[in-house]
Amino acid sequence: MEKKATIRSTREWLASKSRADRRVGLVPTMGALHEGHRALIRACRQKSDVAVVSIFVNPAQFGPSEDYARYPSTLEKDLELCRAEGVDLVFAPEAQEMYPKGFTTKVRVEGLSEKLCGAFRPGHFDGVATVVLKLFEIVSPDLALFGEKDFQQFVILQRMVKDLNLQVALEAIETVREKDGLALSSRNAYLIPRERQLAAGIFLGLQAGRVCFERGTKDPDVLVAIVRKALLESGIETLDYVTLIEPETLETPNQAYPGCRMMVAARVGRARLIDNVRL
Ligand code: PAJ
Repeated sequence: MEKKATIRSTREWLASKSRADRRVGLVPTMGALHEGHRALIRACRQKSDVAVVSIFVNPAQFGPSEDYARYPSTLEKDLELCRAEGVDLVFAPEAQEMYPKGFTTKVRVEGLSEKLCGAFRPGHFDGVATVVLKLFEIVSPDLALFGEKDFQQFVILQRMVKDLNLQVALEAIETVREKDGLALSSRNAYLIPRERQLAAGIFLGLQAGRVCFERGTKDPDVLVAIVRKALLESGIETLDYVTLIEPETLETPNQAYPGCRMMVAARVGRARLIDNVRL
């Protein structure tokens, strides 16, 4: 496995490896890799000839009062995981390499980026879209894999790829969960044991909504109220949002239908946790 820190060496290495008939797959990450990332890497390995993982804690997607400075970093362990999964190349640049002095361009997917998490994290999705477009330009992947856990992120990136005619296929992988249902997240590391127990309530709340939908409830307000109640009862007090959305527009449909998603963002201790389920 190769590890590169510069854009130039990454491009040179890829140019020497990727022939016309070889598919390059990319899994963009911010490191602190867990089993959710591993699932993406495995899918990438299966679907491509050259598997690339990027590890970059992207300052542009953190707000001034957010956790950029304390975002978990486990580079040696991450490299070990990548090696074990047969990754060909890890691109792990410093912030200077990605954002040299004078950098000023931003990619904004308007409309979709201001909803849901965007309303609570202004500029967050501009930072995500900008860095992912840069990664696409650096690696030129045929395929890039993302997690459904960050569903809004995936929808925004799909829109960007479509709008800018990017030659990359995006694929979403189902959320990997702990035994009690908590979605794996690098930010779960912030939870102390009592909060970790509480956090399992997020998935239980989402499940309560899904069960009601399956039993015939179609009114989005009623379904949202059920999820809210279940979350509050499980001890999760600070909710940024609970919303039912249709996948392409992120707008609330008039009626719930199979394929729409219940989305939650909650604060547990120091961690802001997001999750969603497909109804
Ligand atoms: P990060 O949070 O490291 O996540 C990297 C990828 O792993 C994302 O596509 C995310 O949706 C996916 N992922 C996270 N938890 C998952 C889980 N429990 N199951 C399945 N997939 C999971 O998302 C980012 O980084 C950044 O915004 C990035 C796209 C790298 C741009 O900086």
